Formats: sequence, C-alpha cells, structure tokens
Amino acid sequence: MRTRTMTQILPVDLASILFSHGLRVADKTTLHHLQVAASTLQKSGGVVGFPTETVYGLGGSALDDASVQAIYTAKNRPADNPLIVHVASVEQLERKLLAPGQKIPAIYHKLIEKFWPGPLTILLPIQEGNGFVSPISKYVTAGQHTVGVRLPSHPVARALISLSDTPLAAPSANALTRPSPTLASHVYHDLKDRIPFIVDGGPSSVGVESTVVDGLVDPPMLLRPGGVLLEQLKEVDGWANVIKAKKTAGKLEQVKTPGMKYRHYSPTARVVLLNGSDGDDAVAAFLSDNKDKKVAFLRTKCFAPVDGVVDRHLGSTGAEISRNLFAMLREVDELGVDVILVEAIEEDNEGLAVMNRLSKAASN
Ligand code: TXA
Ligand code: MG
Repeated sequence: MRTRTMTQILPVDLASILFSHGLRVADKTTLHHLQVAASTLQKSGGVVGFPTETVYGLGGSALDDASVQAIYTAKNRPADNPLIVHVASVEQLERKLLAPGQKIPAIYHKLIEKFWPGPLTILLPIQEGNGFVSPISKYVTAGQHTVGVRLPSHPVARALISLSDTPLAAPSANALTRPSPTLASHVYHDLKDRIPFIVDGGPSSVGVESTVVDGLVDPPMLLRPGGVLLEQLKEVDGWANVIKAKKTAGKLEQVKTPGMKYRHYSPTARVVLLNGSDGDDAVAAFLSDNKDKKVAFLRTKCFAPVDGVVDRHLGSTGAEISRNLFAMLREVDELGVDVILVEAIEEDNEGLAVMNRLSKAASN
C-alpha cells in the first residue's frame, strides 16, 4: 500500500542561480527551496519533480535502489523501461558512475564537447568485474548492459545534482502514457499526492525530451529523436552515418529503446493528424463527419483558423512547435474535447521529434 504524501510546490528564481565560480544562489528563498529538494534527494527513497530544459523530470538517486523504485511506483512505470541518469559535470560522471579506470568511449568525445550541457543522452557500457560492481542501481538499467547519461543545461537540474552530489535517475515526470510535462503544474496534475516536492522553475524551453544515441554499435544509432537534431548529429566527426532505430516494436520484442514500445504522449481525447497538403477541405470534411464531437485544432504552418472548434496555433517554427506541443495537447484535453486535430509537419529538423511524439499520441 502506498502512503499518501502531500505534494508541495517549491518556486525558484532562475536568474538568481549562478555557476561562475561554483554554484552561487543569490535569492534566499530559492536557495532554501533548492536545499530542501537536494536533501530529499540524498535520502534513501527520496524523489523530487524538477525542471530540465527538455521536460520536467522525476528525480531520485541513481545509486539507491529505494529511490529508483519510488520513481517507478510514483509513475506506474513498467519495470523493463530503463531510466536516464543526469549528472552535473563530466568529472562527476567519471567519479560517481564509471568503473575505476573506465573511460568515456572516444565516439562520444566530440558530441559531449558540442552538445553538453544540453538535450543529448548517450549510452555508456556498465562495467563490472575484477571485484568491481557498478554503483548504479540495477533498477535504473532494467536489465540493459548500458546506462543512458545526460548533462542537462537547466540551472535547477544542475544545482540539485551539484548540491546533493548525487547523479539523478529521472524519467519525464508524467503519469504513464500522458504527454511529458513542461510546467510544474503538469507534474502536479499527474503526480500530486505521490511525491513530496516539485521544484517550479517555469516552462521548459525545449519542450520535447532529449535525443538518445547509441555510439557503442557500428554504425551509431539514433534511438530517440529529441532536442538535439539528427542534422546536427550528422555534422559531428564519426556521426555522419548515424542510422535511425525503428519506431515501434511489439510488446514482447526486445528493443534497443524499451520506451518505444509503450503507448505514449496520449491525451484522453483521440488525436488525429492532418497534412497541410490535404487542404482546408479535409478539415471541413472531418468536421462534418464529426458534428456530434467537441474538436480542438492545433495548427502549425498551412491551415487557416476554423470556426466552431477550439482553435490553437502550435507555432510557426520547429522550435516553437516543439516547445508548445505537450502543453497544448494537455491544455485542450483539459477542456474536455473528444478529438484533437493536429496539423502534421515535415519530418526533418525539429519535425522529426515532433512527428515521432505525435504519431505515438495518434496511434491508439
Ligand atoms: O529529456 C529527457 O530525456 C527527459 C528529462 C527528464 O531528462 N527524460 C526522459 O526520460 O525523457 P524517459 O524515461 O521519459 O525516457 C527515457 C528513454 C526511454 O525511451 C528509455 O527506454 C530510453 O530513454 N533509455 C534509457 N536508458 C536506456 C538504455 N540503457 N538503453 C536504451 N534505451 C534507454
Ligand atoms: Mg517519458
């Protein structure tokens, strides 16, 4: 039986968190709230919702079984879906996660230089043997022989990991199958009474999750498109021939990214994708076939506003569309619509991650 926990939101002032010579926090309340969250993360079983530049995460010590289990419990997450570990520096990664003498594989050096801190997750081998046992909780890796690691750029994420000196296992802080949270209020909506604290650092700026890559195979693989673009990866030495992993797999199939096989990003309403090339007639036809339904329309680049629906403009650029996607799916869902029509975009640049999330939201 789970004990009920009152969830407290801890607001922080981002501008007061500075990293010039080590961490310095100018605002007293912000410092206090970060310390409350960091000390919770140092306790066995302690978990905290916190902002990252991609989406909000639900963090707990990656080195503590009880903390990692508390994450799975709060989210109702299937036990075979591994978690990403977040570090505050490469130095901390080497000191806290790697085996003695273990080096970060050379294939990642240029990627790390270019994209860390930022929305990129790399897979590293877990080294055990010669008496060395990996300090990473076995629940983080969920049976994989690798661990996904990223160094987030968000000041709150970095501050919490630095203050606690604890690498944080953190999935997106949504309830299972819901769109990932980009605001503290989304986390509260999904996880209230299941976690003690949510640090509120305002909206996540990227809006879709990190890009997950596997450089341990040849050619290297893009396992999940995200904040770092495939086009940007390909410009890096050793990554020109990176290939995309297949999008879906059966429930029992062993996949490289276990998260891919689960229903995801789903509002309660049915999500239907429309191509701009279908023209405004396609929208009119859909609406006349669904007269009894309450419909929301999330437009991007081609479609004109439509009367009689909940009309929203998702954005004109890929970055805007990424930033608004999950928040707008949640917002119109809360209005109780039956169907969310979404204008599809090209699957390049930011469109690759956006369409990956939308096709999952629409596939049920
Ligand atoms: O931007 C992000 O990555 C956010 C923020 C909070 O950092 N986190 C996030 O975590 O999206 P999550 O758990 O929602 O998604 C992690 C994805 C899943 O699809 C999981 O299967 C995959 O990464 N993953 C994690 N570790 C892996 C591993 N060792 N091998 C293959 N896939 C892995
Ligand atoms: Mg997730």
